[in-house]
Amino acid sequence: MVRLADDMKRHILILGGTTEGRLLAEHLAARTDLAVTMSLAGRTASPLAQPVPVRRGGFGGVAGLSQYLRDHEVKALIDATHPYAPTISAHAGSAALQTSTPTIALRRPPWRAVAGDQWTEVLDADEAVRALGAPPRNVFLTLGRQEIARFALAPQHRYLIRSVDAVEPPLAVPHAVYIEHRGPFEEKQERALLLAHAIDVVVAKNSGGSATFGKIAAARELGIPVLLFRRPPVSANRGVATVNEAIAWLDHVIGAEFDRGV
Ligand SMILES: NC(=O)c1ccc[n+]([C@@H]2O[C@H](COP(=O)([O-])OP(=O)(O)OC[C@H]3O[C@@H](n4cnc5c(N)ncnc54)[C@H](OP(=O)(O)O)[C@@H]3O)[C@@H](O)[C@H]2O)c1
Repeated sequence: MVRLADDMKRHILILGGTTEGRLLAEHLAARTDLAVTMSLAGRTASPLAQPVPVRRGGFGGVAGLSQYLRDHEVKALIDATHPYAPTISAHAGSAALQTSTPTIALRRPPWRAVAGDQWTEVLDADEAVRALGAPPRNVFLTLGRQEIARFALAPQHRYLIRSVDAVEPPLAVPHAVYIEHRGPFEEKQERALLLAHAIDVVVAKNSGGSATFGKIAAARELGIPVLLFRRPPVSANRGVATVNEAIAWLDHVIGAEFDRGV
């Protein structure tokens, strides 16, 4: 087995911001044949620590990302961004094409409704606001800041709003309670939260995975309807659903003849 000098290591770029991105980085951090960089958009005030070096902030569109891939001699690009972050995924596809960089999308499959779920799909926050209707309701919002802001159009409802960072400025409505919390969230605690706030509708993204599924399971059990944002169209890039599949793809792409340090 061959151990590579630092400048001989293959450079892998992960576009992250997700649990899957971090898990993938954890697996790859031990590899002696790879130099892995994690790219974060820089939206979160105090992001979780990453097991590999991190770069932060946008690249400056497709051109900027292409330049980065060339300048840093990236051998494989793994798009492990959130399913509701379609712009960066589209940029990844275009930049990879322009630079002939092998690429793959690591994307959690969406949740699927089962018996007992009362889901209504909505396109976006404006459609969700309309779907809430006129009579006041107790609404649990688990969305991003920009999406949350749209609910100011429906000030008659009482809102419970959970986010990683503080919602600034606060929602311009008379009744809003804020919780700052990073997942994962257990079903039992989610049930208690829904009951404590007498929630009668949940508004969320169909993120997939287990970390935020607790509220969906709790809503099912309590017979509470859920307004789920429809997933943006999947990018044209080849996709895999698990970290292991992403690693298998990577090994195929770069060859597996080097010492992995495991
Ligand atoms: N949207 C969600 O619901 C959600 C939920 C959890 C986590 N996240 C994470 O938060 C990040 C931002 O989400 P978004 O919805 O704003 O994405 P987006 O709309 O697809 O991307 C907007 C711009 O942000 C920059 N960007 C996004 N992800 C980046 C990354 N990993 N590294 C460097 N630049 C990045 C890019 O700027 P340039 O064009 O300048 O390169 C991109 O054009 C994503 O990385 C995503 O994984 C999003």
